[in-house]
Amino acid sequence: MRAVPAGEGGSSSPRQGHKVFVQKDGVVRLFERFRIGGKLAVSNRVMVPPMVTRLATETGEVTDKLVERYLLYAMGGAGFVVTEPVSVKEQKSGQLLRLSDDRFIPGVSNLAQRIHTETDAKIGVQVIHFLKISRSGYRQTVEDLTRAEVKEIPALFARAASRARQAGVDAVELHFAHAYTMSSFLSRHNKRRDEYGGSMENRLRLAEEVVRATRQAVGEDFVVGARINGDEFTLGGTTLEQSRGIALHLAGLGLDYLSVSGGGKFEDAIPVEGKPLSPYSGYSGARAMPFHWMPEKVNVYLAADIRQTLRKAGYEIPVATAGRIPTAEVAEGILQGEEADIVAVARPILADPYWPKKYEEGRGNAVVRCIYCNQCRDAEGSFEETTCVQWKQRDGSTRGPSV
Ligand SMILES: Cc1cc2nc3c(=O)[nH]c(=O)nc-3n(C[C@H](O)[C@H](O)[C@H](O)COP(=O)(O)O)c2cc1C
Repeated sequence: MRAVPAGEGGSSSPRQGHKVFVQKDGVVRLFERFRIGGKLAVSNRVMVPPMVTRLATETGEVTDKLVERYLLYAMGGAGFVVTEPVSVKEQKSGQLLRLSDDRFIPGVSNLAQRIHTETDAKIGVQVIHFLKISRSGYRQTVEDLTRAEVKEIPALFARAASRARQAGVDAVELHFAHAYTMSSFLSRHNKRRDEYGGSMENRLRLAEEVVRATRQAVGEDFVVGARINGDEFTLGGTTLEQSRGIALHLAGLGLDYLSVSGGGKFEDAIPVEGKPLSPYSGYSGARAMPFHWMPEKVNVYLAADIRQTLRKAGYEIPVATAGRIPTAEVAEGILQGEEADIVAVARPILADPYWPKKYEEGRGNAVVRCIYCNQCRDAEGSFEETTCVQWKQRDGSTRGPSV
């Protein structure tokens, strides 16, 4: 896509009376209009990637507080907001949303409607299949699933995606990253002995079936993306070497975007007595949600490499990157350097939901900056509402900073 110089008119022109955030050469890519998969017009290239809020009910329903949280992100100016994972399966999910039954459609529909009527943002839902885990230390793995259980998975994703479409959301993101079922099938750690494990071809089989079933359920005109790991950051796990092939295969199946994350695995998780194992407790977990002591843009090279691999093979699929991208200047540099097409900003937008709007209006100095302390992650891991420690520091409330 052509970069639109600021002030030339078109989508990145400044709003009346505001100074726009401009890079040195006068081109702002971050705030230009963009079409995801050529289908979904978004007002800029800022994505809020999935972040569990723990604001759903214990039985997976949307709550008013959850709607308010996503409205806040959307009002803050991000073009594309992807919700926390929505379980495709009827199972205990600990305040995680579900679309495992038609009864969940009205709640998600209310969420989508509020976003659409009150903001310019587009909304996607991340759809997830996950395995059982308990405080006793038990953890189900992909090797434990029977063939019959594996065979059910594509239809579960397809039905959930179809419900998402019925509910009026703009996109579904297949969760193929981090610790969960689909990523574990794609992983080099997958030691199944049937046609779903072992070789790369076999490990890709379930993902392919899920993509095909989902596409068939939602049709060609609906955005279906996927989040993958560029590297698992575990000993013996998937690296960029395999992720390139995974990305190429998924692009060939006609996905509309790929969001590249990394890490977040059970294989190097640190056990804590009496608590379920957290895939974010080890080094791979730190790569998924990089701390302040890690470099800025620590995982961007994964997206950049995958994007280049896709372009060389002739695929134009947009690639999103995430991880310790603190400011609009850094985000803009990523776009200008053609390292990614979409910049996903998670914790900085939790810290200050008006991050996009403030930068776009030239008020970057007013942004409450994320300090990458990961207390939000710890809250989420303890099944508590995900908030930013800085909200409390400012005024004692648990509401985000104001516009
Ligand atoms: C509290 C919290 C919950 C998260 N939940 C999810 C999730 O459910 N699915 C997912 O793909 N990523 C999840 N992430 C990862 C983010 O989407 C993002 O990739 C990561 O935080 C790195 O981006 P950042 O440095 O901008 O925060 C979560 C991150 C945080 C902090």
